[in-house]
Amino acid sequence: MTATVSGTPKVSNQSGNNELPPHLNENLLSPRFYTTEFEKAAKTDLDIAREDFEAMFKEMEADYNLKHFDRKASLDRLQELSPSDKAIYESYLVRSVVSEFSGFLLFKEISNRFKKAGRKELGQFFQFLARDEARHAGFLGRALKSEGINVDLPNLGNKRAAQFFPLSWVLYSLYLSEKIGYWRYILINRHLKDNPDKACAPLFDFFEPWCQDENRHGDCINMMMRCWPGMTKGIRGKLLSRFFLWSVFLTHTLTVCERGDFYQLLGIDPVLFDEEVIIQTNNTTRNAFPWVYKFEDGKFLEMRIQIVDSFRKWRKSSGLAKPLALTKFVSLILRQLALPMEQTNAVRY
Ligand SMILES: [Fe+2]
Ligand SMILES: [Fe+2]
Repeated sequence: MTATVSGTPKVSNQSGNNELPPHLNENLLSPRFYTTEFEKAAKTDLDIAREDFEAMFKEMEADYNLKHFDRKASLDRLQELSPSDKAIYESYLVRSVVSEFSGFLLFKEISNRFKKAGRKELGQFFQFLARDEARHAGFLGRALKSEGINVDLPNLGNKRAAQFFPLSWVLYSLYLSEKIGYWRYILINRHLKDNPDKACAPLFDFFEPWCQDENRHGDCINMMMRCWPGMTKGIRGKLLSRFFLWSVFLTHTLTVCERGDFYQLLGIDPVLFDEEVIIQTNNTTRNAFPWVYKFEDGKFLEMRIQIVDSFRKWRKSSGLAKPLALTKFVSLILRQLALPMEQTNAVRY
């Protein structure tokens, strides 16, 4: 049995109407929501990873960031930004608030399903994760409010069908999205510490403990994966590792190249940033997945440049050139998917 969580947050400008500036009037206000095998999830055998579960539960219960996201902190100390730079910053805020809020909805739903199935401790565990994501979304919502943009998150209109994924897919992709989120936040934080003149908004001052939340969430999902040893064994484990690492890295590369203006605003080279995030995430994933990509020969990282190039050509092409450009793009990404992997020591149960 499955449950759905879907919708599109309503957004309005300061005057309360729904006429948005053009940079916010795109598809970014339509996050995807997911649904999974909740009944199967309720059968999670925690005893397989009992020690890890107790440790992670205590860590989440401690709520280290309870006071970090200060509701009174002023978020409107924007540096002098040109209207186009301001638009880049606002688009970033909206994309981020929507993705944090999607995380909240999914964790909340999982938590409710566990509680209904009588799995109290797991229900509480996922409530901690939902708590953090709600806090992140709320904080970004405040930053937007100080820009005069109201995102009415709880009021979900225009229902969208949620996408169904098996439990293993949800856990593999959640693990990666938390860990890649951690690396994105921490690398931006480190760069801005070295280049304080580029920290154009007070929001960035909050990134360090924030990224530790995402790091912990990744560890929580890793613990859940260990409770399902079949997911990481044999050919299934290899295929799932390959597919999710590749798809998450590909999405990251294309997103960073499409939204390069945000990184340039912070004085970050988008191509180098994308590369560093991928290298670090692949390395961290050694702790959870049975296989990770092998980067020593440089092929995976090099291919990103050709992939971005062919993606842009495909987008710009028309008529007969369009299917040809698409064929080139698809053949490149499939070659990247098939690149060598190496086994990790993650599977301990
Ligand atoms: Fe988050
Ligand atoms: Fe998270």
